[in-house]
Amino acid sequence: MPDTPKPVTTLELLRMKERKERIVMLTCYDALFARLLDPTVDILLVGDSVNQVLAGEETTLSATLDQMIYHTRMVRRGASHALVVCDLPFLTYQVSPTDAVRNAGRVLKETGCQGVKLEGGRTMAPTVRTLVDIGIPVMGHLGLTPQSVNALGGYRVQGRDDAAVQRIKDDAKALEDAGAFAVVLELLPTAVAAEVTALLSVPTIGIGAGPACDGQVLVLHDMLGLNDRFSAKFLKKYASLAGDVRTAAEAYAADVRSGRYPDPDHSFAK
Ligand code: KIV
Repeated sequence: MPDTPKPVTTLELLRMKERKERIVMLTCYDALFARLLDPTVDILLVGDSVNQVLAGEETTLSATLDQMIYHTRMVRRGASHALVVCDLPFLTYQVSPTDAVRNAGRVLKETGCQGVKLEGGRTMAPTVRTLVDIGIPVMGHLGLTPQSVNALGGYRVQGRDDAAVQRIKDDAKALEDAGAFAVVLELLPTAVAAEVTALLSVPTIGIGAGPACDGQVLVLHDMLGLNDRFSAKFLKKYASLAGDVRTAAEAYAADVRSGRYPDPDHSFAK
């Protein structure tokens, strides 16, 4: 039996940045995929993208705390090595730090995950500080922040002028100063993500933010080619599972309709 790798901690992620070892993160929403991914990745993110990918909604905005807790409990059951981080859904942390403590506290208590992720920079820094001070590790999220899609005018690349770049750098520094253990950078030009990564001592994890980030994340169902309703320039598909699922379903349907399945090999004689 190969040795079970040591559980990843937030401290280990900092060390990885110091050693220039790239951090691997994937989204995950259930125990089955968690068991498959756990030995290979450093972080399993229970993203509120579950609301789009599995629940079929247009945006992440209607995700609920109970939904995130349900999925995170499943992922945690399948993970013994990777650090499990749960997205705090829209309106569970923006109203007040007290609200954020209650909701993030529920997530940690009821799921056993090791951290939460929230979107936003300087305005969220006091909340991040409050959570970190009571022992709740926080991952930040800057650039394209999907919970603000309506204010941002769509899913578009951010940080395209000097003022926007400065705002992102100030936001990133504020998150680090407030105690965030890592920051996701979504849809940023490569050079901007490189500047933010050089500015911070905590790791950056990019999605559509180029190769200079300390780590990368993709949505699992997108990189597996299972979610063929989504495509983007930054997305590399490592499999084409949607086609495999359709082909298998068609073969099964044809077997059932023709009476080829079940045959004696798949039936009980007595
Ligand atoms: O919800 C999510 O899946 C995310 C990743 C895209 C970073 O936040």
